[in-house]
Amino acid sequence: MIWETVDSPEALSARGADILLTAIRENPRAVLGLPTGRTPIGMYDRVVQECSREYRCFTGVTTFNLDEYAGVQRDHPGSYFAYMKQHLFNHVDIDPANAHIPDGMASDLAAECIRYEGEIRDAGGLDLTFLGLGRNGHIGFNEPGTPFDARTRVVELTQSTRHANADLFPEGHVPTHAITMGIGTILESRAIVLLVAGRGKEEAVERLRSGVVDEAFPASALWKHGDVRVLVVV
Ligand code: GLP
Repeated sequence: MIWETVDSPEALSARGADILLTAIRENPRAVLGLPTGRTPIGMYDRVVQECSREYRCFTGVTTFNLDEYAGVQRDHPGSYFAYMKQHLFNHVDIDPANAHIPDGMASDLAAECIRYEGEIRDAGGLDLTFLGLGRNGHIGFNEPGTPFDARTRVVELTQSTRHANADLFPEGHVPTHAITMGIGTILESRAIVLLVAGRGKEEAVERLRSGVVDEAFPASALWKHGDVRVLVVV
């Protein structure tokens, strides 16, 4: 695990964008795993700025988002579908057919999870996956206690995660469930970049840095992977 400490959220965004853009310049058909949350917004902004100057930035790129809320319409401002359109997809030349997000409104959510895993497999697997870090150590929506071999599935969100993500939902309407890529799915990505910024993450960073691998702390699964870079704001 390579740790890179930067001194501002702007520096984190610049470094994350540089890694993403380098990956898709080196391999214009790259398959990316993409996160949501507040942390990656600045990275996406920079990617959009850079791509506006380039011809064919995302033309051949395929993306898979890590997660989506269950029971939230795609046009709801709190959905990750809306988030990705707002921060990235509306502004780059990605083929919408190649921009995958789990369908949280599918009538059969379990079947949707199996379909999503199949799409990742059919795309040749993930080349590079960006992750954010939840305050309780979650990655995607894999909450503490998730087995490290878990696949894409429906999960119940913890109270603390619902509270942390309540901003875009009216009081009392924060989703209770989500579809998330599993930790096992994430660990199959050829390379992983964990972006860590924001208040209240200090304890999670220390716990990750300690190197203790424990299912009670989902991000510690990353120690089992050979190509992980952690970008952290001090
Ligand atoms: C949500 C997302 C995670 C994200 C986490 C951290 O729970 N499902 O993928 O990493 O929030 O969010 P933030 O970057 O806003 O701290």
